[in-house]
Amino acid sequence: MQINLPTFPLILAPTPLHHLSRFSFWLGHGCEVWIKRDDLTGMALGGNKLRKLEFLVADALAQGATDLVTTGAAQSNHCRQTAAAAAKAGLVSHLVLRGEVADRPGGNLVLDRLLGAHLYWSGSPQTQERMDAVVADLRARGCTPYVIPLGGSTPVGAAGYAAAWAEMSGQARDLGVDFDQVVFATSSGGTQAGLSVGAGAASWPGELVGISVDHLAAELGKIADPLTQATAELLQVQSPHPVFIADQYIGEGYGIVGEAEREAIQALARTEGILVDPVYTGRALAGLIGLARQGRLQGRILFWHTGGTPAIFAYERDLFGSQEGQ
Ligand SMILES: Cc1ncc(COP(=O)(O)O)c(C=O)c1O
Repeated sequence: MQINLPTFPLILAPTPLHHLSRFSFWLGHGCEVWIKRDDLTGMALGGNKLRKLEFLVADALAQGATDLVTTGAAQSNHCRQTAAAAAKAGLVSHLVLRGEVADRPGGNLVLDRLLGAHLYWSGSPQTQERMDAVVADLRARGCTPYVIPLGGSTPVGAAGYAAAWAEMSGQARDLGVDFDQVVFATSSGGTQAGLSVGAGAASWPGELVGISVDHLAAELGKIADPLTQATAELLQVQSPHPVFIADQYIGEGYGIVGEAEREAIQALARTEGILVDPVYTGRALAGLIGLARQGRLQGRILFWHTGGTPAIFAYERDLFGSQEGQ
């Protein structure tokens, strides 16, 4: 697969790929777990969105943009990384955040402000109207806004994860390892689309397993399937790789931390000294643990860490069960 799209350099690549020996021992069930460290993509505490933003920012600059406008939850990692990317590219960032002024003011919100982003609260779960108003206002002031949809999940953004697949498979080849399964958090579908196209282009024989963070599989499919198809067309890849979506780890919903996330977060922290976040990667790791315990995952498994660690500092009180407050 040749990706002939411009990029604006943001990430420190390749991100590390390594074995989790103590976590694998803790998990048991015949699983040898490895990790791809996209929590270490570099800028402003890293994460998966920087890979998409390398392509999106290049597209914005090519279109003469002066401002980036995007949206997400109050603790959006995507918004924080967009603010960082905008700073690096000399653009102004505008973040339209869902709901009212946050009751969790720490974590990513601190970083958004440090990075110089303009913050707007949509006042409702819907953000489109507020986005449109921000864009109209910028245009009226003579600016050229570039709109990045939720999660940066466009075909151009997803190209970042097709490229990431090629990066990971080159590392795996150098290390002499093959993975049976690759497990990752999925929500707005861009990471999933990119990995699916990258794995499809490589005719990889293993299984892609997306742990849905917030949508039932059928709902996610309505977003991710057309995005995957459009990404495959953009990158001229014939057959994207199928993705098995596990949607039984949504628990009580987006951003609501349960016992499964607490167990996963603590297990990885206490066996490997590696942090996953309460909303995305903690849930994805809980899914990996659950599927391994059922015998659904076996052999050599790659957990793709997509970042999100700053949110830990907004969820302090949710991270410990009632037995373990101190
Ligand atoms: C840490 C983290 N992991 C995974 C995801 C999901 O990625 P995608 O939106 O591409 O499905 C997100 C999205 O915000 C995220 O912040």
